[in-house]
Amino acid sequence: MNGTNGVNGSSHETMADEAMPFLTTQPPADQNWAITLKDKVIAITGANRGIGLGIAEVCLANSAKIVYSLDLMDPSEDFFALQKKHPNFKYIQTNVTVESSVESAINSIVEAEGAIHGMVCNAGMTKHQPALNFSREEVEKLFNLNVFGAFSCAQIAARKFIELGVKGSIVFTASMTSYRPNRAAPSAPYGGTKAAVRNMTHTLAMEWAKHGIRVNSISPGFVRTAMTYYVERAPDWDLKMQYYGGMPRLAMPQELGGAYVYLLSDTASYTTGIDIPIAGIVGAW
Ligand SMILES: NC(=O)c1ccc[n+]([C@@H]2O[C@H](COP(=O)([O-])OP(=O)(O)OC[C@H]3O[C@@H](n4cnc5c(N)ncnc54)[C@H](O)[C@@H]3O)[C@@H](O)[C@H]2O)c1
Repeated sequence: MNGTNGVNGSSHETMADEAMPFLTTQPPADQNWAITLKDKVIAITGANRGIGLGIAEVCLANSAKIVYSLDLMDPSEDFFALQKKHPNFKYIQTNVTVESSVESAINSIVEAEGAIHGMVCNAGMTKHQPALNFSREEVEKLFNLNVFGAFSCAQIAARKFIELGVKGSIVFTASMTSYRPNRAAPSAPYGGTKAAVRNMTHTLAMEWAKHGIRVNSISPGFVRTAMTYYVERAPDWDLKMQYYGGMPRLAMPQELGGAYVYLLSDTASYTTGIDIPIAGIVGAW
């Protein structure tokens, strides 16, 4: 386990912030400076496919002890293919919009593995349509998953890190749409959810630094997943590529993974409250 200052069984209701233990982020004298997830137990929400699955693959390639996908959907074929290669890739059916479901998943992980060190709050969805057409219900659905779900996962993981005395790392999947419009497929509410996620990162990082917990986000541009299958099919795609500059292609999900690995690793001990944009083309728009 990665920390030693455990707290004995305090439940979060009884833990007023001032009463919570201080855990220094200072690396120990025997710090391993390799960027590695050796001995780390990592949970990734929405890793049954898409970006989450790509992150899982890169975490496993960088020696993660075990990676759990917390996902609502049944695992995809690609999930099973990765699990065949890495039997230490597991799945717990979880609905990130239900706090008790997330709590139960985190508790099962700690029961099985003895600890948890990293939480990637990645599950999310979008809906592309003109802002004038959105119903209130559709907007709420996006915020419920992308913002409330992500916040709950971070909060529940942070409480567990504090309880275990672990210097945990939390990484949110935000989006380039948190900075600017997605011209190819606008969605004002989606951009709003991702701006909320990116913004929360700063305050959570500030509040939880004293517990040894780091909080960061990553903003992908266009990544080839079920969420973006239509992008390359647009009749004007090649023309857009001529004008956008940057890299004229979508990213593979795995191409984001290195940044997650870094932020989840102990090497990033002084890195908190930042966003890393990874957007070969979108950043150039
Ligand atoms: N694909 C892109 O270009 C892109 C760009 C920027 C940001 N993102 C963000 O990356 C994240 C992953 O996107 P993706 O493209 O891989 O999408 P995806 O739809 O391929 O995968 C999302 C996963 O989340 C799971 N999920 C949905 N609701 C859930 C819930 N309530 N509880 C648990 N799991 C749930 C799904 O079952 C699915 O496995 C999202 O937050 C998305 O907003 C994607």
